Amino acid sequence: MPSKTLPFKSQIDYDNYLKRLPTGDHYSISPEGERFRLPSKEDYEREFLRLQNLVEKNRAEGKEIVVVLGIGFVGAVMAGVVADSTDKDGIPRKFVIGVQRPSTRSFWKIPYLQQGIAPVKSEDAQVPEMLRRCVLEKQTLTASFTYDALTLADVVVVDVQCDYVKEDLAQVASGYVQMADLERALEIIGELVSPEALVLIETTVPPGTTEQIAYPLMKKAFKQRGITSEPFIAHSYERVMPGANYVASIRNFWRVCSGINEESKRRIVKFLTEIIDTENFPLTVLDRPMESETAKIVENSYRAVILGFLNEWSLFAERNGIDLIKVIEAIKVRPTHSNIIFPGPGIGGYCLPKDGGLGVWAYKHIMGFEDDLFKITPMAIDINDRRALHVPELARDALRNMGRYIAASTVTILGASYKEEVGDTRYSGSELIIRRLAEMGANVCVCDPYVDHWWEFEAQDSYPAPGQSRARFFRGQETLKSLRIEKDVKTAVADADVVIFAVRHKQFLDLQPQELVEAAGGPIAVIDCMGMLNDDKIRSYFELQCEVKGLGRGHIERLKRLYKSRPAIPSPG
Ligand SMILES: NC(=O)c1ccc[n+]([C@@H]2O[C@H](COP(=O)([O-])OP(=O)(O)OC[C@H]3O[C@@H](n4cnc5c(N)ncnc54)[C@H](O)[C@@H]3O)[C@@H](O)[C@H]2O)c1
Repeated sequence: MPSKTLPFKSQIDYDNYLKRLPTGDHYSISPEGERFRLPSKEDYEREFLRLQNLVEKNRAEGKEIVVVLGIGFVGAVMAGVVADSTDKDGIPRKFVIGVQRPSTRSFWKIPYLQQGIAPVKSEDAQVPEMLRRCVLEKQTLTASFTYDALTLADVVVVDVQCDYVKEDLAQVASGYVQMADLERALEIIGELVSPEALVLIETTVPPGTTEQIAYPLMKKAFKQRGITSEPFIAHSYERVMPGANYVASIRNFWRVCSGINEESKRRIVKFLTEIIDTENFPLTVLDRPMESETAKIVENSYRAVILGFLNEWSLFAERNGIDLIKVIEAIKVRPTHSNIIFPGPGIGGYCLPKDGGLGVWAYKHIMGFEDDLFKITPMAIDINDRRALHVPELARDALRNMGRYIAASTVTILGASYKEEVGDTRYSGSELIIRRLAEMGANVCVCDPYVDHWWEFEAQDSYPAPGQSRARFFRGQETLKSLRIEKDVKTAVADADVVIFAVRHKQFLDLQPQELVEAAGGPIAVIDCMGMLNDDKIRSYFELQCEVKGLGRGHIERLKRLYKSRPAIPSPG
């Protein structure tokens, strides 16, 4: 049992951090607008004593202490899954401390979680319920801002982000990995953890990170502390899927893992077996962490490549009168090809636009190779990064066919998120559609039932980080800061000249042509980005004097010609 003395490590970090903050900016504001004062030196002392008391009590009950570092999208839910786990007799055996650095941007997550409120928004009702239950009822979960919690851990789970910055639009190869945050986190872990603790890296990292970055950093920190034993470090990546099955995608899903030595491997298998359903979803244990890291990168690059490859067939379809949606459905019947999917208006989400880049970067900057080995992976990501820009071209051409211009027209985008039935807007195709339309002089309106704030626009000077908004790749973006999400479809399309079906949310799939055109107040240009209009609906739009175009949907021109060549229906009487 550690003695109740204060290591003060995080305080040193915190003092340096405070010095860098402008005066008076010592608050963190939650998305709901609640202000939380950042902790003072005295708070650190109090907080560490609080944790020590909790840990003492929970250890006496036979629980293992797990610190989850980074309580973002993945870490917050992982912390809940660990805290909710029980042994075969239904008794909780883990006490979890979710640790989050006290930055102005993220500190609010700590008081939220301490009150049993989920610090992440999810479409899965289990997320808030599980976190509330673990904090308030089972009392197996708390949150903290002090790294000193690491001194109390038996297991540390690293869920901090490792971002990839692209310097230019659709130029993944010239980008770079932001390793500094992760490296600093690993250094601090080495400075503070017990030599017996297992460190599990869940962050998606450039292959080689566990063995060639984490291990040397921890070994060096151990040496400075006079510890001669080998650290225990493992890698196992999350396959979390935002949406209604978020918790299940962590708890009831297959995992890949590995460790830097046999004991690390044994410990990671034991830990994962205790928290996830490995009976129905068996673990895959690989020889080296680098294999586990590479598996994650290849998994997501594979998906990105298939989508990038289909972009050219999508254009082929548009130019040759065929419907790629029907072609893909026909191919999917073949069991070996059943996971082929239609590429929407830009391939978003946090992972697919960046993960291949982590691999390309690692080859050069961790492994030290100079040649350009990677061709297909970066090319696919670049193609995906530009795909959304074809949508404003279709809108422009559809309006032109109606004798109107895109400049000064009103365009309504149905869907802001990167996929159906979720509110996650990270790297969504709709963002780029809007940025290009703004350049072209259109007025833009957005509807998404799942999104409250579209921070990529509202906070584009500072989100995802200062100087990293995709606004910098376009001109005329200032006014987009005032872009707000309209929840009601009919209000959103009132007075629209163009309606873009961008995301397959159910509300949009259910829209009938007659009601949409009536709500818009007359004929409109309709752009289908995700195969959301069947042929009957397309014909109805033509009957309502609308113009229709779609990504990969060349057959629409054929339907239009058939419609136009039909003899006019004689008027009654
Ligand atoms: N979001 C997904 O769908 C998803 C899916 C699979 C894997 N992943 C991977 O999981 C990792 C985490 O992703 P996320 O979506 O949770 O990111 P996130 O940005 O939501 O969360 C990261 C959290 O870590 C905190 N943090 C950063 N540095 C820290 C430090 N030094 N100490 C303590 N806290 C720190 C941040 O403030 C933030 O709250 C990434 O590598 C990502 O690629 C994400």
